[in-house]
Amino acid sequence: MTGTPSAAKARVLSGMRPTGLMHLGHYHGALKNWVALQSTHDCFYFVADWHALTSHYDDPSVIARATFEMVTDWLAAGLDPERSTIFVQSQVPEHAELTVLLGMITPLSWLERVPTYKEQQENLKERDLATYGFLGYPLMQSADILVYRPEYVPVGEDQAAHVEITREIARRFNHFYGKQTDLEARATALLRQLGEPVLRAASAARTAWLERGDREAIAAARQSIHVTRVLSDDERELAEGWLTGARRAILPEPSVLLTPTSKLLGLDGRKMSKSYGNAIDLREPPESVEKKIRGMKTDPRRARRTDPGNPDDCPVWTLHEVYSDEARRAWVRQGCTSAEIGCLECKQPLIEAVKAELAPMQARIREIEAKPGYVRDVLAQGCARAQRAARDTMERVRDVMGLARLDASS
Ligand code: TRP
Ligand code: SF4
Repeated sequence: MTGTPSAAKARVLSGMRPTGLMHLGHYHGALKNWVALQSTHDCFYFVADWHALTSHYDDPSVIARATFEMVTDWLAAGLDPERSTIFVQSQVPEHAELTVLLGMITPLSWLERVPTYKEQQENLKERDLATYGFLGYPLMQSADILVYRPEYVPVGEDQAAHVEITREIARRFNHFYGKQTDLEARATALLRQLGEPVLRAASAARTAWLERGDREAIAAARQSIHVTRVLSDDERELAEGWLTGARRAILPEPSVLLTPTSKLLGLDGRKMSKSYGNAIDLREPPESVEKKIRGMKTDPRRARRTDPGNPDDCPVWTLHEVYSDEARRAWVRQGCTSAEIGCLECKQPLIEAVKAELAPMQARIREIEAKPGYVRDVLAQGCARAQRAARDTMERVRDVMGLARLDASS
């Protein structure tokens, strides 16, 4: 295998629920960015099929098929199995093991206050989402992420809260299990020499820092140590290490890598979504691209060809923002506000641009589908590679959580 990810590159991890065929909203909102990251990062991308079950547990028949369709579209869009680790969540059971273990330390209130929890229950009234699995959605997502110990999680704004709770869970985990035991004992012994009040104040400051990132508390604690006695270099290192939690980051906190939100709207002016039926799929045949864009909603003020309009109130403009250069955008603005161009004229270059963008992807899809078993093989290889990374994390996790080992080394 030629494309073994380089250890020197920062790791990114992201996932999508298996929604089946990808559309332009997915491409410009996420996939294009995933593809670009391949040249700079060690990329892990996966199908979150268990997450699909949290809300669609009553209709699982579509998940496997949607998984293969989605991954085919990922590959067609430019994900490269030689450079990225592409896999399926349910095939790497370490995600489940870490979910169970992190569940032990995750306060219920943290899950209940994740904004998507109440929102989705409201939005999907027709489904019964008062389940344990649905409440645990962000916890499972945290495990998905932490089991690979990535530096970054590339996601859109809508997922930022999930990355935030992931960071909190990692912090809490490291707080409990990343202790260096003798550091703890030696540091507290040292501070006790400075007096019980200093030790108590330092402990409180340390907790404020570790749990809430309270820098001022730490600064005040340093000060109170300093005025009591000037520490030697070794002592200072010890006290500082303990105070700031220089513990082992067994599960390092990942950062969100916010994907620039693409404003590309659907045919009816709402967010592009399969469920609204307003999407242009990556597999859309050219005639259908033409038909759909010609029929796309425009600024309602342009009821007649001679009525001027405003691109800012027109969903077609959001396509120009993606596909047109400065000059063409100026042409649209000028022509639209003066009624010098008609809407069909305005749409024509977009029809060409979308067709040109999709043609090579559709050729790739035909190639992939002509090779039976190809996607399955890509996923099998990706799952094996992902599992190696996940197992490595789980060994450390089991170890620090005190679980027994039955192999020869124990
Ligand atoms: N919740 C994500 C979404 O709906 C999918 C997801 C599951 C995910 N696990 C993840 C994304 C881990 C990033 C990292 O899009
Ligand atoms: Fe929209 Fe273009 Fe028509 Fe203006 S001319 S309303 S931007 S389609």
